[in-house]
Amino acid sequence: MILQAKNISKGYAVANGRLEVLRDVSISVEQGEIVAIMGPSGCGKSTLLNVLGTLDRPDSGSLFINEQDVSRLGDTALSRLRNQTIGFVFQFHHLLPEFTILENLMIPLMLAGREVLEAHKISEEWLDRLELSERTDHRPAAISGGERQRVAVLRALVNNPKLVLADEPTGNLDVSAGEHLMQVIRELVTAEGCGFIIATHNPRVGEIADRMLYLNEGIITSAEK
Ligand SMILES: Nc1ncnc2c1ncn2[C@@H]1O[C@H](COP(=O)(O)OP(=O)(O)O)[C@@H](O)[C@H]1O
Ligand SMILES: [Mg+2]
Repeated sequence: MILQAKNISKGYAVANGRLEVLRDVSISVEQGEIVAIMGPSGCGKSTLLNVLGTLDRPDSGSLFINEQDVSRLGDTALSRLRNQTIGFVFQFHHLLPEFTILENLMIPLMLAGREVLEAHKISEEWLDRLELSERTDHRPAAISGGERQRVAVLRALVNNPKLVLADEPTGNLDVSAGEHLMQVIRELVTAEGCGFIIATHNPRVGEIADRMLYLNEGIITSAEK
């Protein structure tokens, strides 16, 4: 089990009191498994992903990632765990506009300690796998929205994370680019064996997921496919 969260609760102080966004949410993900968190806009999907990704702390509940009790880690150990174990994909690709597609993949590899030539070779191999080799020297603005999100998925994967968290990765894509992205995610997760959690309000995304969970009024339930 790469991630195990039990009874996670989280709320926000708001003008007229407190907004309880997550109530006793439990969720787990195994390696090679895609879990979709579905539910309408505002139901708390991003709040949950931020907690699971250790970007935010829950009010209560336990979170184990890669067998480590996250609540026991200080900020330094937590950011090390995050950098080494978790990849993130967002609704907006957040690729660096001044750098080429290849360089956008090389940067996280070099930040993780790879030499330039090695980072170059690894990045080319990943781009080859998704048939993006012809886009290597393009800037993000010069490729399609679907291609940008595919590169964003690769960027999350280049350092071989055990867990990837994706928040509405198809939210900005048309139907066909969204389906292409989901197929790519399915193939990569199966090949790489990482756990993958995807938050979305798009019911089609559930089709490639191994399990679907539905978040409503702060409570999570498993949903029928
Ligand atoms: N930092 C915050 N302070 C106060 N309320 C917040 C904060 N972040 C999110 N919320 C509220 O929490 C609820 C869930 O938000 P969010 O997790 O972004 O939902 P989703 O990703 O499903 O659209 C919403 O009502 C939102 O307005
Ligand atoms: Mg959201």
